[in-house]
Amino acid sequence: MCKIDILDIHSHILPGVDDGAKDLEESVKLLEMLKEQGVTAVLATPHFYGMQDSIEDFLERRENAKKALLSEIKDRDLPAVYIGGEILYFPGMGGIERVKELGITGAKYILLEFSVIDFNDNVCRDILNIRDNFGLIPIIAHIERYKQFKNYKKLLHLVEAGEILSQVNADSVVEGVFSKSAHKLLKKNLVHFIGSDTHSVKTRPPHMAEAYRIIGEKYGKETENRLKENSSRFLEELK
Ligand SMILES: [Fe+2]
Repeated sequence: MCKIDILDIHSHILPGVDDGAKDLEESVKLLEMLKEQGVTAVLATPHFYGMQDSIEDFLERRENAKKALLSEIKDRDLPAVYIGGEILYFPGMGGIERVKELGITGAKYILLEFSVIDFNDNVCRDILNIRDNFGLIPIIAHIERYKQFKNYKKLLHLVEAGEILSQVNADSVVEGVFSKSAHKLLKKNLVHFIGSDTHSVKTRPPHMAEAYRIIGEKYGKETENRLKENSSRFLEELK
């Protein structure tokens, strides 16, 4: 089988824009670690918190950090870097035109995270409105973390029905408090993407190779390859 490209769809590698990489040196180190783990391209997804940040400021900060990083890694043999965001959901989001600007650059997706919430019918409808109104398919970031939220099953129904997509953190596949939840989703085939969600070299380094190895061992090569191919198809859209 020929080698396929692997995209890490969730990372905080841009320098100084959020609680991720603190400077260019750390950004480069994270890219080197991801490369060692077989990752060929990385989607940088800095946090966007609508209650404390404006879209303009976020986009400008992200653009500056992107330029700095791309110029630093130019001509170096590191994974290609693409740009997106990890957007904290807020009620009514599906009706706000400017949400379009928060999608993943060059693709028809938006990576969404949630603070404590109830996935009731209104929220589920609002999530679908983001897709229906703005053509952005929601990908639920680290979906395994929301197991304790009210009406989690309603969110999973949307994934099951193919209405939205899901991402699980590599760390949760390997170990930790959300591991049980992550493996339940993998067992049920409800995971579309694995992401590192890496923030830092010391406290939150990437564990992509280990996660894929565990998935291959537990659920078979077919599942491991399906997840890798999903990321590869995503990458084709970004190129
Ligand atoms: Fe994240």
